[in-house]
Amino acid sequence: MTLIRLLYISRATQPMNADAITEILIAAHRNNHPRGVTGVLLYQNQFFVQVLEGKPDDVQYIFDKIKNDPRHSNVTVIQQNPIKKRGFPTWSMGFKNLDELSGEDAEKLRDFLEAPITEEDFTEQRPIHLTALVDRVMALYAAEN
Ligand SMILES: Cc1cc2nc3c(=O)[nH]c(=O)nc-3n(C[C@H](O)[C@H](O)[C@H](O)COP(=O)(O)O)c2cc1C
Repeated sequence: MTLIRLLYISRATQPMNADAITEILIAAHRNNHPRGVTGVLLYQNQFFVQVLEGKPDDVQYIFDKIKNDPRHSNVTVIQQNPIKKRGFPTWSMGFKNLDELSGEDAEKLRDFLEAPITEEDFTEQRPIHLTALVDRVMALYAAEN
């Protein structure tokens, strides 16, 4: 069974509070779970970074819903490639607000908190920053689950 991972970055069109995030996560669970799409949504400095994993058609179906959502803009795919196994197998959509991390998560993501997501992450100017961030979050997930 072919699995892919799609990683994109976007800019929130307005600051997101906890209720606004919850609304997104409820829709994500409702739609992703039945299709076996898993992943994580990160929020920092008014940017979103999201990983979607699953069968190509399922990931595309969900991404098609997401990409025109008026709650964000400049939706830019950074990476889309086959994977051997999922990084977030039990999360129909996990979430971490990097602006509000504390404790062990903050410690383990310290360098990414000190060098937050910026406009440069939409371009080639910081080529591995986002993939490295996602790899680190994946390692956190693996340690916690
Ligand atoms: C940053 C962001 C991430 C989102 N992630 C998902 C997601 O993983 N799955 C999903 O179904 N909807 C997600 N949404 C919501 C979709 O854009 C859309 O509102 C929703 O899928 C519509 O659901 P419905 O077709 O069941 O009404 C996201 C929205 C935003 C702004």
